[in-house]
Amino acid sequence: MNRQFLLNAHPVGDIKLTDLKYHESPMPVMGEGEILVKMEYLAVEPAMRGWMAGRSDYTEPLKVGDLMRGFGAGEVIESANSLYQVGCRVSGLLGMQEYAVTNGENFPIGIIDEAIDTASHLGVLGVTGLTAYCGLKAIGQPKVGETVLVSAAAGATGSVVGQLAKLQGCRVIGLAGSAKKCEWLTGELGFDAAINYKTDNVAESIQQHCPGGIDIYWDNVGGAILDLALEQLAVGARIVVCGGISRYNVSGEVPGPKNYFNIVFNNALMKGFVVSHYAHLFPEAIAELKKYLLSGELKHHEDIVEGFEQAPVALQRLFNGDNVGKQLVKV
Ligand SMILES: NC(=O)c1ccc[n+]([C@@H]2O[C@H](COP(=O)([O-])OP(=O)(O)OC[C@H]3O[C@@H](n4cnc5c(N)ncnc54)[C@H](OP(=O)(O)O)[C@@H]3O)[C@@H](O)[C@H]2O)c1
Repeated sequence: MNRQFLLNAHPVGDIKLTDLKYHESPMPVMGEGEILVKMEYLAVEPAMRGWMAGRSDYTEPLKVGDLMRGFGAGEVIESANSLYQVGCRVSGLLGMQEYAVTNGENFPIGIIDEAIDTASHLGVLGVTGLTAYCGLKAIGQPKVGETVLVSAAAGATGSVVGQLAKLQGCRVIGLAGSAKKCEWLTGELGFDAAINYKTDNVAESIQQHCPGGIDIYWDNVGGAILDLALEQLAVGARIVVCGGISRYNVSGEVPGPKNYFNIVFNNALMKGFVVSHYAHLFPEAIAELKKYLLSGELKHHEDIVEGFEQAPVALQRLFNGDNVGKQLVKV
C-alpha cells in the first residue's frame, strides 16, 4: 500500500491536524518513461497553508480529496527512464506520500549528489536555498559593509539568507522567536546580532543594531515586524518580500504596512518574488550553495520529525515556531 496524506478540509485560521487525512491507496503503477520513487524525507513549507486554502494565488489550488502537494526526496526503486537509474536518489515535487511515480518533469532539483546527505537537498540545496540565493542576488543585491535585517532568521530560508549575506561582507541581524534560536544565530551561524521579537522591544533593538538604518530587509513574516523595519530604512534600502507567515492563518482583512511611505522618503525598493520566477539562476545557485556547503562556510540544520504519520504535526511546527532550520519528516 501507498501511504498518503490528502487534503481533508480547507483550513480556517490555524492549520488543524484534521485538515489533512491519512489515506492508504494501492501502490502506484509505473508507465512508459516513468520511475518509482520510495520517499525517505518529506519537506513541509509555510506555502502549504496557501496551497490548502483553495485559492488560486500562484499555483493551482488543491481540492478536498487531492493528494497534498509537497516536496520529497528518496530512492528510485524501479525505472523505465534512462535518465534515472535504480538506486539513485532524487528530489522534487512528488506529493505527501510514501511512493511516487513520475516521468521526471516534477524534479526541479533532480538527481541527488551522493556526496551530500539527502536531507540537505530539501533544505539548503532545495527550494529553501534557491529562494535565499535568488532573492538575495536578484533583489537584495548585498554590498560589503551593508546592514541586513532578516525575519524568521532561524527558519530554513532566513538562516541561509543571513549566512549568504555574511559571506558577501554584510552585517547581519536576525529576528527570531526564542532565546535558543537567537543563540544559534549569533553562536553557530555567525550573525552579528539577534533580536527576540517576542521578548525584546523590536523598534529599540533595530535602532541599536542598525544605527545607520537597514540597507536590506528580508521579509519572511510581514505584519507588525515589516512595519517596524520600514520605519528604519537606510537611503537606497531594498526590501525583499519573500513571505508573510504572520498573515497566512488570518481570516478576513489583513492590515497593510502603515509605514510604506518611507519607501518614497528613502528611495527604497520593495519587491516580492516567487522563487520559480528565477529558474534561470538555479544552476548558478546550486553550484554556489554546494561550494559553500562543502567548504563548511554555510551551516545548515534540518529539524527532523520521525514517521510519515507525523507530517501534519511537522507542518504545524512551522506556524508554532517549533522548528529550527528546515522542517522535514523522515518517512
Ligand atoms: N517567495 C518564495 O518563493 C518563497 C519560497 C520559500 C519560502 N517562502 C516564504 O519564506 C518564509 C519562510 O519559509 P521557510 O520555509 O523558511 O519556513 P521557516 O522559516 O523554516 O519556518 C517558519 C518560521 O516562521 C516563524 N513564524 C511563524 N509564525 C510567525 C508569526 N506569526 N510571526 C513571525 N514569525 C512567525 C517561526 O519562527 P519564530 O520562532 O522565529 O517565530 C517559524 O520557525 C515563509 O513566509 C514562506 O512562505 C517564500
